Amino acid sequence: MTPIVEKIALPFVHRMDPEKAHNRTIWALKSGLLGRRKPYTSSRLRTDVAGLPLLNPVGLAAGLDKNAEAIAPLLRSGFGFIEVGAATPKPQDGNPKPRLFRLSEDRAAINRFGFNNDGMYKIADRLAKRPETGVVGLNLGANKTSQHRTIDYIKVLETCGPYVDFATLNISSPNTERLRDLQSKDQLLGLVKGALETRNSFDRRIPIFLKIAPDLNAQLVDDIAEVVQRTRVDGLICTNTTTSRDGLVSPHADQKGGLSGAPLFDISNEVLATFARRLSGTVPIIGVGGVSSGAEAYRKIRLGASAVQLYTALVYHGFGLVTRIAKDLDARLAADGFDHISEAVGIDL
Ligand code: FNR
Repeated sequence: MTPIVEKIALPFVHRMDPEKAHNRTIWALKSGLLGRRKPYTSSRLRTDVAGLPLLNPVGLAAGLDKNAEAIAPLLRSGFGFIEVGAATPKPQDGNPKPRLFRLSEDRAAINRFGFNNDGMYKIADRLAKRPETGVVGLNLGANKTSQHRTIDYIKVLETCGPYVDFATLNISSPNTERLRDLQSKDQLLGLVKGALETRNSFDRRIPIFLKIAPDLNAQLVDDIAEVVQRTRVDGLICTNTTTSRDGLVSPHADQKGGLSGAPLFDISNEVLATFARRLSGTVPIIGVGGVSSGAEAYRKIRLGASAVQLYTALVYHGFGLVTRIAKDLDARLAADGFDHISEAVGIDL
């Protein structure tokens, strides 16, 4: 689909059931219907995050391509890097439908998918066939009925790790009961140490990121900061979806699940700034939550993010948004006199 056809198609997609629209999007990507956009790049935007060479710092957040089916077309959608998954050891169906809700009035979404995915073996097969160029990460999850969730993450990492450029320990999905308990100190320490040891056994060193929730009490902030500093995990992704529902006006506001999109922007920024201050640049942070413009991406960078990711805004604006954000970000950095994005990281703290 050319960008113009995409624009015309979006209003139709918005009238469909949200999960059907999501499946159509994956289908359209796989069919090559969504056009090709080279990642926009410049000397200011080209950067390195935890050793990953990025043409631009605008990434795709986990959850859109849960089964790693559309890697090549997503790499041609303008992103500087993409994250697929979450993958769990065994395939699982996830929660009963409906489980994805559009909150148009709030420019938001609520999902309670619950890690529906094809399982690590099928996903590893697809990852093995990925294009060699482009930065591709995998979001790691645990099966709902697993007795040893920590081991689940290690299994997926062992199986899929050799085919990706980074892996994310997603301990922050609100849709698997008690998963967020893994954010507490002792459990987290064991998980991160295990993942880093597994990674160290690979032929190629890939960074391991930790993706955290926006809904953290002071104790959990302390726990996570301590584990990050003790283990030297390679990076933090701030944040996953929120369980908060403040200020929403849409009819679906009371649905259970994780809220993403515009209402998450300030909430995730607060967590981002908190960790940027605590870690003072020792570990890179990827900022996620409510990014739908260059100005919002720039805000996250000024609050301490070395790169950003987005998902929900694509539902409302289409894939053309990715290049618009990268270009606008470049212009904003130039207007403020920065020669390179790294000079702006955390400048507002
Ligand atoms: C997600 N997100 C997500 N995150 C994750 O770590 N693993 C996952 O499997 C998923 N799945 C998922 C499904 C759907 C439908 C949505 C909307 C989101 C969270 C996502 O990666 C991101 O952290 C949040 O959505 C916040 O970013 P946006 O959407 O506000 O840009």
